[in-house]
Amino acid sequence: MIKVEVPLGDRSYSVLVGPGAVNKLNSLIPADAERAFVVTQAGVGVTVDPGIPYQVAHIPDGEEAKILTTVGNLCSSFAEFGITRRDIIIGVGGGVVTDVAGFAASVYHRGVRVIHVATTLLAQIDAAIGGKTGVNLPEGKNLVGTFWQPSGVICDTSVLNNLPEREMIAAMGELAKYHFLGGSQLDKLPLDQRIAACIQIKADVVALDEREGAGRALLNYGHTLGHALEIAGSFDLRHGEAVAIGLKYAALLALTLGRIDESRVAAHQAVLDAYSLSSRLPPKANHEDLVDLCGKDKKAFDGFTFVLDSSDGLEVVSGIPREALLSALKLMEISE
Ligand SMILES: NC(=O)c1ccc[n+]([C@@H]2O[C@H](COP(=O)([O-])OP(=O)(O)OC[C@H]3O[C@@H](n4cnc5c(N)ncnc54)[C@H](O)[C@@H]3O)[C@@H](O)[C@H]2O)c1
Repeated sequence: MIKVEVPLGDRSYSVLVGPGAVNKLNSLIPADAERAFVVTQAGVGVTVDPGIPYQVAHIPDGEEAKILTTVGNLCSSFAEFGITRRDIIIGVGGGVVTDVAGFAASVYHRGVRVIHVATTLLAQIDAAIGGKTGVNLPEGKNLVGTFWQPSGVICDTSVLNNLPEREMIAAMGELAKYHFLGGSQLDKLPLDQRIAACIQIKADVVALDEREGAGRALLNYGHTLGHALEIAGSFDLRHGEAVAIGLKYAALLALTLGRIDESRVAAHQAVLDAYSLSSRLPPKANHEDLVDLCGKDKKAFDGFTFVLDSSDGLEVVSGIPREALLSALKLMEISE
């Protein structure tokens, strides 16, 4: 079992990684918690026993479930079961469950402790770590949320055996991102160590910038176009698949702006290839619409804002001209 610490003062916590880690759940339950409320989905198929009286609620599947109505329903269920501020919420599932359970925990009684049992690769390397919670609005993804650190996270790698292949590959989009955040040798590690190494990278970033003042924004590498593709709605892309396309696009945008050269773009392509990730824009993608959606990104404080590569590594770059965004989209089609 590998243990990674997320060092955040009195909000510090451990992440346990390895096969069978779910059996260590009891070790993370706070001694004074009297009841637990497990939030999961029907398809997750991972059962947990917190060792104290508990109730289980299933939320619906997919991004459509990441809405305030789901949070309201959960909070009513917490109240019916008598969850108090001393008790514990346990999110068992992928990023949708951990985002929703984390958000519900953060607002119920103005904050109840939460443990995440992350059951997708994407949740293990990213969504369950770092304390960002949230739900979608019709106007955009993750527009309502909180920073609410969990009391602990379990990443049981054996449950990944049941994950559909597409979910595994999609998560590789987030894994590929970590290659540009100091994890250039990640693909050489066995899966458990690779997951732990990603968690360590994220923990280091979050420890320096818990509430996304500056450094944490770098974790959004590849996400600006990725989110635009997800919001555009009609492309049937998993989050990680959209991020993979967004990583290639960010490299081509950096090339367009003269920040990196062709060899660095090739390095991006090599990482995407190593994880069998497609970087093709969906054939019906409308460039003007995608650029408009990039402008609506919640991190776009100062014109078009992207995390972009440079000879000094990743940086947040604002005020990028619309023409550059359109040129890089054309390069995406040429480079296919
Ligand atoms: N909070 C953050 O920092 C953060 C970071 C990255 C992504 N996210 C969010 O994460 C979400 C995506 O998460 P995801 O990719 O895990 O998708 P997901 O949560 O929708 O899970 C994918 C599917 O796999 C099923 N599943 C989960 N575990 C399984 C298992 N072990 N075996 C079989 N099936 C299983 C789920 O029921 C679901 O149908 C997005 O909403 C994204 O915005 C949040």
